Amino acid sequence: MSKSPFRVRLLDKDLDRSDFASNSEVLNRYLTQQVSQDVRRRITACFVALTPNNRIAGYYTLASTSLLLGDLPVSISKKLPRYPSVPAVRMGRLAVDKDFEGQGLGSALLADALYRASNSEIAAYALVVDAKDIAAVGFYRHHGFIALPDSARTLFLPLQTVAKLVTQADFLRAVAATNWEEEASAEARVWDEADLSSSLDPWALKP
Ligand SMILES: CC(C)(COP(=O)(O)OP(=O)(O)OC[C@H]1O[C@@H](n2cnc3c(N)ncnc32)[C@H](O)[C@@H]1OP(=O)(O)O)[C@@H](O)C(=O)NCCC(=O)NCCS
Repeated sequence: MSKSPFRVRLLDKDLDRSDFASNSEVLNRYLTQQVSQDVRRRITACFVALTPNNRIAGYYTLASTSLLLGDLPVSISKKLPRYPSVPAVRMGRLAVDKDFEGQGLGSALLADALYRASNSEIAAYALVVDAKDIAAVGFYRHHGFIALPDSARTLFLPLQTVAKLVTQADFLRAVAATNWEEEASAEARVWDEADLSSSLDPWALKP
């Protein structure tokens, strides 16, 4: 397996965001013009995938949210406690620069977000996403997300499912695709065997 080209870390002010160009003008503008303000106000956290020369190849945002029990499919809500809502993590935005599309980075960023959400000490029932269009709905459904019955563009994946996925090679391969450095900086997420179950294939994690 070749050395993976990306590492994922929190956005900081030293990174150049001006050239980021995904297929979505709205998501480009958000990264270049608005996200810093939202991060400063603790409205969202923003994670970026960086190339070895610190170019931003993709990004996503995470924030707390909740899901109304009544909005979930009945087959799922009937298994949950009778609270009005359950806690969740919202991935409000996800975008990959056009130069890096189709290489698995979108999947890897999704896996990274799922891993962070499912490993937080603060409980959340699901990762929730807002798909910006029908194509994005297809991307999330392809990854196992379930649409809310009355809001097809809002999809979720129970994080219990993710805990099971962590033992599966595809998920790991996506996560491993974001590790180009063994020694990442302090704020970067370092993925290594210690983070994951001992039953994993080492090839999936080591470049
Ligand atoms: C959607 C987006 C994030 C995908 O990123 P990417 O790096 O090109 O995607 P990947 O290469 O990781 O694709 C991973 C898988 O998803 C599948 N996929 C991608 N788009 C899909 C779609 N519209 N419908 C179904 N599957 C799709 C790919 O076929 C691939 O499948 P495979 O792993 O089984 O081969 C990227 O195209 C993008 O930034 N688009 C503009 C912004 C956007 O739509 N964001 C979505 C959230 S609002």
